[in-house]
Amino acid sequence: MTGPDEAVEALLHEQRQFRPSKEFSDQANATTKTYEDAASDPEAWWAEQARTLEWDTPFTTTLEWDLPHAKWFSDGTLNASVNCIDRHVASGQGDKVAFHWVGEPENDRVTITYADLLVRVSQAAHALESLGVQEGDRVAIYLPMIPEAVVAMLACARIGAPHSVIFGGFSAEALSDRILDADARFVITADGGFRRGEISPLKPAVDEALKKCPDVHHVLVVQRTGQEVSWKEGRDVWWHDIVDSQETTHSPKSFPAEHPLYIMYTSGTTASPKGIFHTTGGYLTHTSTTHRLVFDVKPKTDVCWTAADIGWVTGHSYIVYGPLANGVTSVMYEGTPDAGGRDRWWRIIEEYGVTILYTAPTAIRTFMKWGEEHPQAHDLSSLRLLGSVGEPINPEAWIWYRTHIGSDTCPVVDTWWQTETGGIMITPLPGVTATKPGAAMVPFPGISVDVVDNEGHSVPDGHGGLLVLTRPWPGMLRGIWGDEERFRETYWSRFEGMYFAGDGAKRDEEGDLWLLGRVDDVMNISGHRLSTAEVEHALVGHPSVAEAAVVGASDDTTGQAIVAFVTLKMSGEVAQGDEAGLIQELRNHVGEVISPIAKPRQIILTPDLPKTRSGKIMRRLLRDVAEHRSLGDVTTLTDPAVVSMIDDLMAEHANDDD
Ligand code: WTA
Repeated sequence: MTGPDEAVEALLHEQRQFRPSKEFSDQANATTKTYEDAASDPEAWWAEQARTLEWDTPFTTTLEWDLPHAKWFSDGTLNASVNCIDRHVASGQGDKVAFHWVGEPENDRVTITYADLLVRVSQAAHALESLGVQEGDRVAIYLPMIPEAVVAMLACARIGAPHSVIFGGFSAEALSDRILDADARFVITADGGFRRGEISPLKPAVDEALKKCPDVHHVLVVQRTGQEVSWKEGRDVWWHDIVDSQETTHSPKSFPAEHPLYIMYTSGTTASPKGIFHTTGGYLTHTSTTHRLVFDVKPKTDVCWTAADIGWVTGHSYIVYGPLANGVTSVMYEGTPDAGGRDRWWRIIEEYGVTILYTAPTAIRTFMKWGEEHPQAHDLSSLRLLGSVGEPINPEAWIWYRTHIGSDTCPVVDTWWQTETGGIMITPLPGVTATKPGAAMVPFPGISVDVVDNEGHSVPDGHGGLLVLTRPWPGMLRGIWGDEERFRETYWSRFEGMYFAGDGAKRDEEGDLWLLGRVDDVMNISGHRLSTAEVEHALVGHPSVAEAAVVGASDDTTGQAIVAFVTLKMSGEVAQGDEAGLIQELRNHVGEVISPIAKPRQIILTPDLPKTRSGKIMRRLLRDVAEHRSLGDVTTLTDPAVVSMIDDLMAEHANDDD
């Protein structure tokens, strides 16, 4: 957990240095008046923001709030893809670049204008309709970071079919779980993608997943790599065969503001992921407004790069919907940061004149490890603003980012939000709010946040507690797909009338907010959310495993790393030399069941797990063991010897990480 500890306090006095550069002192998009207006009447302020969108039927109601159900702008109608594309083309911006797309292989790049995007999305919308996709049908999208991912999302939005984008790193099993949960009947995928200089297959995972999903009618396959794929006649269709020949114009329909736009699966505290679902008008209002104000967007000149994957919410909100609704130019990059050299990102920034970079602390810490020489070798002077998202940013990384990437002039905005919130919730506004290294600072205008104790009482300045959201906001999740009970239970049952975020937070002496990490069994690995339960579930699915306990231990680069304690069904039977092989097998098994991102950093085989008298696994204690902290109170353990034994095992395997 990162917090205002001593090192941070020491850095705070430097704060004055982190005033925004002159360019931001007359921020065109926001002033302190923005905060005042939003605070005096949040609903009216949001309604004003919503009116910057193009509505086919203007809304007359702003918010209907029947806790925990919010409806925003519900009698208005609009089309998300029209707001992201058509209206910019209609206003003469057709030649403007929507995306500079950069593939992982060198010289593999495409520039797509707003007019191009309109043609592509129109054709894809016709293609989906010709395959039988209808309004309300869920479409699963399992693609690499290629332009077709954006096109597919917007084509779904255009015809009112909610998309469910599934991160391309997920396994066949994770994919089938998500397809079944949403009852998606259509899948859009590719033969494969390029990752770390290699071709990574996608279609085989879809074929495998669909063995369990008999209701999927069609699979639309983009040819990206040219690798051989198996083919199921009647079900599988090549994208280029069906999309490219379609008419290039498509009449969009208008949908109610509360029409579902998408489902995004994310990890909760149990083994099964939750389908967070978002609707249209409020979500677009929230993402476009936050994008405009948090990044002080100047649509004529900015080149935005949200270096995230479209398979996660950050990609949805700040590669696709927010930037396109604002009509800006974005960069989209397919590959890993070190493909073609450790300076790949800095080359991209130099080449395209990127002005706004938005990424996760894990990436920043990795660049720190690789050394300043890589960014220094490039002209990064186009950059004027830096953003951070996904996990707590430690002050050292914040300062490095500002100094070495932001040439000591770019404001750094640390933005806190979640898949559930749809858009940014806590953040400074450059030029308006002062910044502190490591702090997300203040709620975005129109957002109400509190830090409370276990009884739900607001904590005073200088104290820590649990983060809650105290008023509905336009981009909020409208539910968990198909599971109303879980929606109420997860977010609305802990404190009456408040949304429980699952994060710890502290208000410093000046009332500014510091995010402290999760307080539940959700881990945050390189900004990816995973639950301890889903990794445990995967481990116990292996024939050799009897029991597993998983914890997120702090890690210098990835924020947290997965450490698993495993007991075997026939303990004692694994010969000493075979242990390493079994551990590797278990890691691979988790990679296959969930995703390579879920592979534990370390697996400890132990004859027993520490439990309370009531039989609950003592996770807190295991976390202490995994982080090499002192063990604290072990009096409630059934067998205190187990703990010291695990501790010894940890010491033995301390160098096992790979
Ligand atoms: C964490 C990603 C600290 C937090 C947009 C949250 C952060 C979870 C920050 C949501 C931040 C996100 N500082 N922690 N600036 N941003 N988090 O749903 O624990 O993938 O609950 O959404 O990431 O992750 P999710």
